Amino acid sequence: MSNPRSEDVGFDVDRILRETFVAEVVYHETVDSTNNAALEHCRGDKVRSPFLVLTSRQTSGRGRGKNLWWSPGGSLTFSLAIDAEGFGLPAELWPKASLTTGLSVCLAIESLLAGDESKVALKWPNDVHLQGRKLCGILIEVVPRSSGMLVIGIGVNVNNSFVEEPCELKSKATSLLDATGRRFNQTDVLTAVLKEIERQLSRLASADPGLAADWQTRCALRGRTVEVDTGKRRATGICLGIDEDGALVLSTNNGPKQIFGGTVTGIWSPGDGG
Ligand code: BTN
Repeated sequence: MSNPRSEDVGFDVDRILRETFVAEVVYHETVDSTNNAALEHCRGDKVRSPFLVLTSRQTSGRGRGKNLWWSPGGSLTFSLAIDAEGFGLPAELWPKASLTTGLSVCLAIESLLAGDESKVALKWPNDVHLQGRKLCGILIEVVPRSSGMLVIGIGVNVNNSFVEEPCELKSKATSLLDATGRRFNQTDVLTAVLKEIERQLSRLASADPGLAADWQTRCALRGRTVEVDTGKRRATGICLGIDEDGALVLSTNNGPKQIFGGTVTGIWSPGDGG
């Protein structure tokens, strides 16, 4: 399949191919979900890794569990499919891919922002927050019956705005436009994120011990009292951070507890009385 022409899509495809490790770009003007399209593309004969699925409009973006991902105009939604095994990431490292991708988004956004604007943090297990509100969601899926392909789906609120949205949403979500008052070039944001994903996944593959320290430094929940629904039970405690296994560590009445997966259902800051 040939790559789309930059003038036909809203992205500089030549630049993406030149500056990042992406080997192929698949473009859909409108698509239900870029993750679905990437999973489908993986079923073809000649799959080039990594390939990128891009769209200007996603109609049924998927989030974790049963969540949906709202994709208004101006937001950036894409999926990167990578031969993880071939990249040096055996299956036992895949549980850490979400945090590593989140760190990549944090670093990319930090590089695009200046000073105080850049209060970017990693909200375990797979969100990126800017100034305390959700900026980006990540959904990683294993390609069924493939030999080691992963689809990394990323939604970043770039030039869309939550200002006119109901308080409930506005207090929880933000975009680069809302946080800075500036509009961003989508290709700039995309290439910055892709370059960081290559760097950070390489660190994961080479067992770089500094990676866990970087998760820890950017952990949005550290020092706060959090409640996590693990699917089997709810755990509550003061968050001590994210450890080298990628687990959230809570200080509970029964001592420190590692949480490997779940949904954060409550967050209280010191002084909230919670
Ligand atoms: C979450 O916050 O629960 C994860 C949201 C992930 C959304 C992205 S948008 C691009 C890709 N395609 C999808 O259908 N989902 C991911």
